[in-house]
Amino acid sequence: MDGVTATLPPALAAAQKLLADPPADPDISRGYLDLLGAQISDVPENTGLIQALWASPIGSLLYDNAQTVARRLLTAWQQPTEWLDLPAGGTALDVGCGPGNVTAALGRAVGPEGLALGVDISEPMLARAAAAEAGLNVGFLRADAQRLPLRDASVDAVTSIAMLQLIPDPATAIAEMVRVLRPGRRIAVMVPTAGRAASLIRLLPNGGAHAFGDDELADTFESLGLSSVRAKNTGTIQWVRGVKAA
Ligand SMILES: C[S@@+](CC[C@H](N)C(=O)[O-])C[C@H]1O[C@@H](n2cnc3c(N)ncnc32)[C@H](O)[C@@H]1O
Repeated sequence: MDGVTATLPPALAAAQKLLADPPADPDISRGYLDLLGAQISDVPENTGLIQALWASPIGSLLYDNAQTVARRLLTAWQQPTEWLDLPAGGTALDVGCGPGNVTAALGRAVGPEGLALGVDISEPMLARAAAAEAGLNVGFLRADAQRLPLRDASVDAVTSIAMLQLIPDPATAIAEMVRVLRPGRRIAVMVPTAGRAASLIRLLPNGGAHAFGDDELADTFESLGLSSVRAKNTGTIQWVRGVKAA
């Protein structure tokens, strides 16, 4: 262990070793590893109302409570841990982790020798996640999904729940998730969908959320070379899954 990782909590020390460009002086002052700081983003930013809410303390509090209820009531909101087929001791990534409870569930799935990392851009969301869910094998990073800080082929599964609609460039974010996934391993994403009404909804003013059409994400998965691509709609929620070629 070098001098830098020795000063970090175990999950963040393990995360630091997976980073493409690990910081020499990591900022963990708020309980998560902040890889953005005050830097000006060089990827497109979402300046819409919905992400402004998730980036605020009150919005993150409201969301945290609402998602707990949604996950109790709606099976479509539940996490894909079983399908991701995580190996014990493996590494799982939750992109747009919000309050971090899915990240923590991934941490339980990989067990004490494994690692689950949650990535989000919102400081209040990450502060909640770190306070409630960080642990020996669960850690949180502040980074943009359109430029994931991890090395190529460094994780054993990726999930992203209810985030891609907020990303100015969802295809780039998915390409990043696939880049960091190991060959032969699985990715599952969930988005709200407008189905066949998506093209009409796009004509309306919106709060900064993309309305996905039925085949849009599955087409992106296939264009990135994923196999066994499946899309399933349950009401206004769509799950899309795929496997990276071995
Ligand atoms: C609706 S919440 C979903 C949170 C969590 N995945 C869940 O299922 O409860 C969307 C999250 O995506 C995050 N997000 C939005 N844009 C992002 C970006 N460019 N990079 C990383 N996270 C982002 C938001 O900050 C927010 O925490």
